[in-house]
Amino acid sequence: MSAQPRSETSTRVLTATGITKTYRRGSERVVALEGVSFSLDAGEFVTVSGPSGSGKTTLVNVLAGWETPDVGEVRWTDGDVDPAAPAWGALASAPQRLGLLDELSVHENVELPLRLRDGADRADTAEQVGAALETFGLHALAHRLPSEVSLGEQQRTALARALVGRPRVLLADEPTGHQDAGWAAGVIAGLQRARERGTAVLVATHDEEVIVQADRAVELHDGRVVTPA
Ligand SMILES: Nc1ncnc2c1ncn2[C@@H]1O[C@H](COP(=O)(O)OP(=O)(O)O)[C@@H](O)[C@H]1O
Ligand SMILES: [Mg+2]
Repeated sequence: MSAQPRSETSTRVLTATGITKTYRRGSERVVALEGVSFSLDAGEFVTVSGPSGSGKTTLVNVLAGWETPDVGEVRWTDGDVDPAAPAWGALASAPQRLGLLDELSVHENVELPLRLRDGADRADTAEQVGAALETFGLHALAHRLPSEVSLGEQQRTALARALVGRPRVLLADEPTGHQDAGWAAGVIAGLQRARERGTAVLVATHDEEVIVQADRAVELHDGRVVTPA
């Protein structure tokens, strides 16, 4: 982990306190997270690691607001963000299952958050979309549908889409999961560039290459934090 002291003046964007989340599987009760507290500052790059099933994806989903915790709360503490309904502009996500729109080209998928947020037309978004496509090596295939590119390229499309609007927070779930070694490094560089622009980057990963680049690494085991957040 690179030594990057947390600045006393940095802005805390997100605070989760005492999160417990359980799922039901038939008659069984699965504790996915237990008493997890976690915070994220503007412009820091944090990894959440741990073995498969340790609760990484559940934590990302709770922070994103897609899952409601049984106990605990998630608070947006960034004045620029509406805590009741963080918008795409504030919170962006590259989920493990990507969530690309099959009917839209790579370019249109990446452009979508800008159009939804700003109602912008293509001329207004060209520069930002072009930069995001370039960062993730998608320029040459931008006109293709997701089904016409590799899984790694689909994953990079999801990352470009998440970052195109310069969100306050990026939640990325296993963002190097479908990348070869060369593009894993490219993805990490893209995340670091976002961080340098002030985006708080939270990555759920078990990829050592990513973990060593983090300002802070949080580890989960059986739904509990084993390294202090
Ligand atoms: N929708 C669900 N229903 C039942 N169990 C789930 C569900 N989602 C996750 N789990 C369970 O919760 C635990 C944590 O899962 P997850 O957060 O996906 O872990 P990770 O991302 O670290 O692999 C696992 O035991 C998993 O099987
Ligand atoms: Mg997961």
